[in-house]
Amino acid sequence: MDKIIEEYQQKFARFFGAERAFAFWKGRVALYALLRALDVGQDDEVILPGYTCVMNVNPITYAGARPVYVDIEPDTFNMNVNLLQEKITNKTKVIIAQHTYGYPCEMDTIMKIAQSRGICIIEDCCLALGSKYQGRMVGTFGTAGYFSSQWNKPYTTGLGGMVITSDRELAERIESLAVNETCPPSAWEVFMLRMQLIIYRLFIYPRTTALAQNLFRYLTKKGVVVGSSSTSEFEPERADDFFKGISKMQARSGIRQLCRIKENIAHRRKMAHLYDKLLASKGFKPSRDSRDNADPVLVRYPVRIAEKDKALAQAAKAGIELGSWFECPLHPIETPLASYDYELGMCPEAEKASRHAVNLPLHMRTNEKTAKRNVDFITGFTQAD
Ligand SMILES: Cc1ncc(COP(=O)(O)O)c(C=O)c1O
Repeated sequence: MDKIIEEYQQKFARFFGAERAFAFWKGRVALYALLRALDVGQDDEVILPGYTCVMNVNPITYAGARPVYVDIEPDTFNMNVNLLQEKITNKTKVIIAQHTYGYPCEMDTIMKIAQSRGICIIEDCCLALGSKYQGRMVGTFGTAGYFSSQWNKPYTTGLGGMVITSDRELAERIESLAVNETCPPSAWEVFMLRMQLIIYRLFIYPRTTALAQNLFRYLTKKGVVVGSSSTSEFEPERADDFFKGISKMQARSGIRQLCRIKENIAHRRKMAHLYDKLLASKGFKPSRDSRDNADPVLVRYPVRIAEKDKALAQAAKAGIELGSWFECPLHPIETPLASYDYELGMCPEAEKASRHAVNLPLHMRTNEKTAKRNVDFITGFTQAD
């Protein structure tokens, strides 16, 4: 193991007070490593919210298991714990508690249900770095947690994933898989990712994001850049080079980001409060978490509006950085839902959220001026329930 990767893993684990951390090429690869290490396979079922990214479902199908979807509750976009029990069967091996947008899941109830049935909990913290539940950071409740440092995530190393766990046996199994089964990223992938990071840092600002994203998607399809998802990842079959480790370049970048993590978290909190205030002043219901036991650090600020498509089209023209997660229960809209055991109508609240939810940026490049501009723009549309 390279020293710089080891240093990144140790620093990440220390931030969470976890015993071990293991870095991978992407967040989805981290989930795949976890499922394999937990011996999830044929005939097993994995429960997750029906409001996620298909890239998060692929590792379940790659492991040979069946995804089972739970609908969300509308305020936090997280798994509705009242519907969880009825989804559990004697085949359920894992529950993935996805802390959507950064809102912590109701971990008390999830843990009680899982423990009473001997089921493992994996926390999906890809959108929730630093969020707390009952005063404790998410990622430290379940058997393990995983994180992403892809472009849109709490901090970015271009692409990147991390597992944390304090379960020694599990850590040993992940380590063995990482050593024996992962392949390294190619020199071309690392070179391109480095170039993309440089371009991102120099040229991508809230006003240029929409344009850059469209160009990036086009270049990804042409295979000219290292995209977040290759074409083969839109099918439930695993490509040979999927199980990939992290590069030294990503690890170096991750260490630099970790040095600024407290500043990053404080900025996200400040911006979210600002959106709360600005939206309320315009008669919009803010997306504030009203639970006493939850202290979220949001990755993006969700807003529900009636005319989502129109807003996205106008935002792109006006240089407003408006996000569109999730476009369907298994984002993106092109996902062949039936291939992933999802039938329309399975998760009505998630489907409704997909039709209405857009999100506003909270990253370090946003400031008071961009927040005001974003709020002026979004409140020009009708808020949806
Ligand atoms: C909730 C959630 N979990 C996991 C992932 C996978 O992360 P990555 O893109 O690093 O593989 C995503 C993808 O964007 C996601 O939205």
